[in-house]
Amino acid sequence: MERICEGDRINRKVLRRERLFRLAKPYLEKNDLGVSHTERVLSIAVKNFTIPNELDEVVFASIILHDVGGSDVKDQYERGPEIAKHLLRQLDYDEVTIREVCEIIRTHHNHPKNPTEAFRILHDSDKLAMLSPEEFSRYNSRPGFRWSKVLDSMYTERAKSLAQKLLHRRMAEVDEVNAEP
Ligand SMILES: [Fe+2]
Repeated sequence: MERICEGDRINRKVLRRERLFRLAKPYLEKNDLGVSHTERVLSIAVKNFTIPNELDEVVFASIILHDVGGSDVKDQYERGPEIAKHLLRQLDYDEVTIREVCEIIRTHHNHPKNPTEAFRILHDSDKLAMLSPEEFSRYNSRPGFRWSKVLDSMYTERAKSLAQKLLHRRMAEVDEVNAEP
């Protein structure tokens, strides 16, 4: 019988995750924010959240695939789960994981009261990406846009306090530009 040590298991998971990202890229490239948005959400999640081992497949697959359906919410909800299922099956993800990932994709802009931990990590990381230097002005320039609503929607205190700091930093940058002669 083949003996798989812990290191091999982790390597396989990481390799499969990388393959999933490669398969998702042609879809993500078509989105307004491109592949780089997904890369930002991934790196924010890794840097700011503890991702339990037993959840890492669902968390990473949900992040990689959350916007695979398109740029607007309707496409993300309607097309996203089908595309995700197709890609995850190609890489032999188990059906329970596939179902959970598709459910998160189908609802990731909603605000359920008691979402799963994987949902919270994706949700808050996706919101934090809005405050990145690359995405900030896209939202800040919208008439009537309120950052307080974004901050209030965050589930974790860690994300909220980080968002507050980022918001101050971004606003200071806007002030600096406006003050330039
Ligand atoms: Fe997103």
